[in-house]
Amino acid sequence: MILAKNSHERYTFNMKSKICVIGSSNIDQIAYTQNIPADGETLFGDSFQMGFGGKGANQAVMAGLLGADVYMITCLGDDVYKEMTVTNYQTNNVNTDHIQMVQGSSGVAPIWVDSTGQNRIIVIPGANNKIDAQKAISSMEDIGDISVLVGQCEIPMEVNNEVFQFAKNNSITTIFNPAPARSLEKEFLDHVSWLIPNENEFQVISGMEPNNENFLKFKKNIPCNLIVTLGEKGAVLVEESEIHYFEAPTVEAVDTTGAGDSFIGTFAYELSLSNTPQESIKMAVSKASQSVTKKGTQSSYS
Ligand code: RIB
Repeated sequence: MILAKNSHERYTFNMKSKICVIGSSNIDQIAYTQNIPADGETLFGDSFQMGFGGKGANQAVMAGLLGADVYMITCLGDDVYKEMTVTNYQTNNVNTDHIQMVQGSSGVAPIWVDSTGQNRIIVIPGANNKIDAQKAISSMEDIGDISVLVGQCEIPMEVNNEVFQFAKNNSITTIFNPAPARSLEKEFLDHVSWLIPNENEFQVISGMEPNNENFLKFKKNIPCNLIVTLGEKGAVLVEESEIHYFEAPTVEAVDTTGAGDSFIGTFAYELSLSNTPQESIKMAVSKASQSVTKKGTQSSYS
């Protein structure tokens, strides 16, 4: 049973618990370094790690690790990464029956992580840009009884638009994580139940500085629920006229890569268990905080 609040509707109860994630799969190539090189500078780094990533993939794997019944809709190329990516999903309890395959390369993401754990990421989408909306909708019909759909911005927005419209028409609760940051059409938000940006994404979507006053102002202009994640400060649930803070525990950050995705995957799982949004955020903040204490993207999840 899940608690959902879609557009202008009130909270409603729903007896299903399948989670479907549509989004990217990448291979993360992470360089750990004390300092980030300046223009024209070459530096020695400390270590290198390759692993599975992609915002969609990370969110699905987080939910899978928590025990969710999770289905991944993503698109892989016909390269060396294809088989290992499928195996990784299966190892992490994520259903792979609806993965699309195309010619060309899979998504990759070179990442730099500095001594404070902060990252800089370049995504080369490859096959992620070739995901087919109609196939994705057929997959959702085949999966059936989906309670929560999760999406992000690492696949074309036209695809998200069609899939989220389908979800809305079928009373599926939807979570949209607008990452990487980009502006969103107002109509798209009509299909979204929960919009979850971080502060930087909030700024891009709303055109306003991320602060309490602007969170409330923005909330009045959108038809969906709003949570803003605040990194080491936790997260806020923004309601019509009040803001609820969920503080993060103090931890030593070694690598923040994928922490936001861990938040989203946990939040989706908790909602699918019919936990309240407040309980779900609390758990999501806790999991995201744990993830920054270990190196790697999915390898930092537990
Ligand atoms: O959010 C972290 C993710 O962003 C990485 O796994 C990388 O692949 C990019 O998608």
